[in-house]
Amino acid sequence: MGSAVTGWGSALPSLRVDNNALSQVVDTSHEWIAKRTGIHSRHIAVDEDATTLGTQACAQALEVAELGAGQIDLLICTTSTADALLPSQAALIRARLGASNAVCFDLNAACAGCVYALSTAHSLLQTMPNMKRALVVGAECMSRIVDWTDRATCVLFGDGAGAVVLERSDNDRGVLACALRNEDDVDDVLRCDQIYSCDPPFSADGVIPCTQEQIAANAEAEGVGLEQALANAHCTGKAPLVRMKGRDVFKFATRVIPQMLQEACHQAGVSVEELDLVIPHQANERIISNAAKKLGLPLERFHRIIQETGNTSSASVLMALAHAYQQGCIQPGQLVGLVGFGAGLTAGAVVLRA
Ligand code: UT7
Repeated sequence: MGSAVTGWGSALPSLRVDNNALSQVVDTSHEWIAKRTGIHSRHIAVDEDATTLGTQACAQALEVAELGAGQIDLLICTTSTADALLPSQAALIRARLGASNAVCFDLNAACAGCVYALSTAHSLLQTMPNMKRALVVGAECMSRIVDWTDRATCVLFGDGAGAVVLERSDNDRGVLACALRNEDDVDDVLRCDQIYSCDPPFSADGVIPCTQEQIAANAEAEGVGLEQALANAHCTGKAPLVRMKGRDVFKFATRVIPQMLQEACHQAGVSVEELDLVIPHQANERIISNAAKKLGLPLERFHRIIQETGNTSSASVLMALAHAYQQGCIQPGQLVGLVGFGAGLTAGAVVLRA
């Protein structure tokens, strides 16, 4: 039994921001960004959010698979930029989509989330008798968490969503093997702290640092309203922004991409040379060409959309996969390798037969 890809879709916010526009925001240039990353533009969600983008990508994938939303048994959303902490992003998309029979949950493996989610969906389709059809969606609004004053990171990321339908199949089509790996990020090379806007009103020694009476007295002394004084006392205003040591991430990526693809191919009983197409995480054109060189594969075999989208984190492999199907770059029976890496540190690859 396998899990076949029967539908695919993607969504981009309507606003396209090119490198020249970005150079009006930070001290950068089209030449630098294009040469060092291969990125020419990215889309930024102004009117959209992860729910609208994710739902749109899922709806497209369902249409290709000729399925109704009610026929989906499992919906996994991979994201680091969910619209809410509670409920899950998957639950928000499920409701908007009308996938009322789906079990749903989020999975965060940073930019490698796509391969982790596909591996998880594949495993559940193989082991849960009542699960036959799954939607795997990556939906990201990275523009919410990048530091728009840091030129070394803000030029890299974009927003978007990608989705696939996976269906349990009785033939040799679909996912053949998955390889996943984690390494400790001891140097914090890629990190974004959580958004908690409030501190609990207690300290470790049990003393209550700000009682209602004190806050009310402060409000009166400062001449501000009680509501404002309460907010001032409890809201931390911490800004959760992406911090990255780019060169370290670069080294990690160029090491693990070939390793993970080789491991997944080995498990699938095929050689890397047999892959008709590789869909890599769209983080940097130079990372992709470096990996191609290490694997001895022509760069043309690596499907790339990075020029138009930038790095859309866990959505990027799903978006590129959808794009490859839409462009007719994947024919039935062909072997496709998907490979991702990201914060954590996470890495993984999936080999599938289209
Ligand atoms: O999903 C995973 C997420 N992350 C990644 O995959 C990122 C992996 N890393 C990379 O892609 C690259 O390391 C970057 C694109 C982030 C940076 O490229 P680099 O070739 O490693 O540049 P660098 O950090 O070594 O910086 C070289 C120079 C520095 O100036 P000086 O010190 O040589 O004068 C930077 O200040 O480039 C400067 N620089 C910029 N200049 C213009 C850094 N960012 C920019 C910029 N525009 N946007």
